Amino acid sequence: MATRPHVLRTLSPLRRAVEPYSEAGERLALVPTMGALHRGHLTLVREARRRARRVAVSIFVNPTQFAPGEDFSSYPRDFQADLKMLAEANVDLVWAPSPSVMYPDGDWTRIEPAGVAKAGLEDKFRPHFFGGVATVVAKLLLQVGPDFALFGEKDYQQLRVVTQLAKDLDLPVKIVGVPTVRGTDGLALSSRNAYLSPQERTVAPFLYGALKLSAKRIKAGEPIMAVLVNARNELVRAGFELDYLEARHALTLAPVAARKDGPIRLLAAGRLGKTRLIDNVAV
Ligand code: PAJ
Repeated sequence: MATRPHVLRTLSPLRRAVEPYSEAGERLALVPTMGALHRGHLTLVREARRRARRVAVSIFVNPTQFAPGEDFSSYPRDFQADLKMLAEANVDLVWAPSPSVMYPDGDWTRIEPAGVAKAGLEDKFRPHFFGGVATVVAKLLLQVGPDFALFGEKDYQQLRVVTQLAKDLDLPVKIVGVPTVRGTDGLALSSRNAYLSPQERTVAPFLYGALKLSAKRIKAGEPIMAVLVNARNELVRAGFELDYLEARHALTLAPVAARKDGPIRLLAAGRLGKTRLIDNVAV
């Protein structure tokens, strides 16, 4: 039966709520989210449950990872619907701080990630983004103190940045990546898909289609550059305003020119109308 998770909004009650878990020797897994939950998030919750007796989900639309003019104010928010889904998923605890709890007034310390955060992918088009993500994820990990934290491969560079962050800051947490959850037509589930018009929604799965076809052609031995040029052209013809479609080393995110430089990950981002979509596949 679904039990309503314990909802915490300030730090001292959060600390009191997680303390008994460690005293009882129960492992805790955290799934950080910005809410507007869908089946992708719930898959992360299920994976969390497989690894730990206790599962916490954070819901915080993090203002510092949005640039002025991005969709912070219009980002979908439905706390009650989220809570219902998390109750059904038997989540123990929901950490939902307000912006003023997370970022009290005045100047505060920020984390400026390097390495994979400067790969020239998302960072090139959203230069503020990984500073905001790294800062809030470090805070969430220190606030909740989980043994595991789960992140989706859908945001592949983010997963790499967070993995590097935990390692560089010696955080005692294991970062776990979870494969992308897709609709039947291949479109990666995303809270932002709600912005797509019905017409754009029919074109959106082309992004995954182009990535999958490119991976297949590269595996078959076709030259990477030619395959990528072709995929970019196809996507632009379909109506995408493409930010990037690139072949990168799956761990370092360094550019790769040949298959022998792999393992390769293909990563892409682009806009359909006002909606920005990102996706990636392994080769
Ligand atoms: P959000 O976009 O809400 O995503 C929360 C987590 O769910 C991320 O790890 C994301 O990669 C994962 N996720 C989203 N869609 C997915 C899908 N279709 N399949 C698998 N996993 C999916 O990413 C963020 O929030 C924020 O940047 C955050 C890490 C919470 C920091 O603010």
